[in-house]
Amino acid sequence: MTTLGNRYTGLISRYRDRLPVSADTRLISLGEGNTPLLKLKNIPALIGKNVEIYVKYEGLNPTGSFKDRGMTMAVTKAVEAGSKAVICASTGNTSAAAAAYAARAGIKAFVLIPEGKIAMGKLAQAMMYGAITLQIRGNFDDGMELVKQVANEAPVTIVNSVNPFRLQGQKTAAFEIVEELGRAPDYHCLPVGNAGNITAHWIGYCESSTPIGQKVTDSCAFCDGDCRYPKAPITTGRPKMVGYQAAGSAPFVRGEPVLNPETVATAIRIGNPQSWAQAHTVMKESGGWFDELADQEILDTQRLLAMSEGIFCEPASAASLSGALRDIKSGKIPEGSVIVCTLTGNGLKDPDTAIGQCASAVLKTIDAKLDQVRDSILQTMGV
Ligand code: F0G
Repeated sequence: MTTLGNRYTGLISRYRDRLPVSADTRLISLGEGNTPLLKLKNIPALIGKNVEIYVKYEGLNPTGSFKDRGMTMAVTKAVEAGSKAVICASTGNTSAAAAAYAARAGIKAFVLIPEGKIAMGKLAQAMMYGAITLQIRGNFDDGMELVKQVANEAPVTIVNSVNPFRLQGQKTAAFEIVEELGRAPDYHCLPVGNAGNITAHWIGYCESSTPIGQKVTDSCAFCDGDCRYPKAPITTGRPKMVGYQAAGSAPFVRGEPVLNPETVATAIRIGNPQSWAQAHTVMKESGGWFDELADQEILDTQRLLAMSEGIFCEPASAASLSGALRDIKSGKIPEGSVIVCTLTGNGLKDPDTAIGQCASAVLKTIDAKLDQVRDSILQTMGV
């Protein structure tokens, strides 16, 4: 089959030579990747610091989160291996992506989600894309254990980030950033839950700066000391990787699993991260750090970003910028730095939390009368 014209057909096509696919692999794609890298115009001035902050708006992927990058690879490889069903535990975004890519591939998706603890948009997606959606009376960590056990007893492929193909897909975000900036940033800030994404980004940055034939990073499950995937290095630099967690779900900050994680940022409500060891390797190799944020700080930054820049991300995503702003203000991230923050998911995923934050202040009810509309405008404009 041929494709017409010069269409963008997804990240596997674009980075085929740096991903574990062959010429005749059937690609399962929804046109994911190639997301905007937006330079913040107003927030740096608000905090009075001379820094360049870019946000990688992953909420513009086909199902509204970065998970699509990993899912195109995981489902492509599952189909290639003859699998008829995929399964995942999820705080919402992985289940949406798994459901969509399984639908595209014509296979089944089973998703385990914590009852009452996923954002409404994500639940709507899993159901609409036709996943068999199992709400469990337990949290994400319980679901993850169940998924790993059931995969030994039923013919299903796990598409959580313990599936190494997921990280291979997600590493392409770093390729896009390096290509667009013409260099690696000084700091790359991400929200951390399972720590798959921070690990994937590090793999991507390392491959972008490693000569062919050399070992890339200890975090990469594919790296056997003679990596097949780096092309000629695009850049020599690598960023410090900074991972931010919600205070109620911050096992990396505590140094041990958290038994009953809680946070308004439900996407990162995870107490027992699957990529524990890899994430520590990332910190050691990159010279970065983990830190935590209170729920209110996360929500304040979500709103600041929406109101000052016109960019709407979900609460978990705002943790990256929230942490970065705090560390810029304190000088831990010095002036003159180039910083990239990943906005992992779209704000539309979680309308309840958004409306809950602004309803009373912003939503006014009036009669359908000209004078009332006019007076509202004049009052607001102070004329
Ligand atoms: N941001 C969002 C919006 C997420 O959905 C997730 C993870 C993360 C950040 C953290 O990424 O786990 O790679 O460190 N969501 C998973 C899910 C767990 O099920 O959708 P991570």
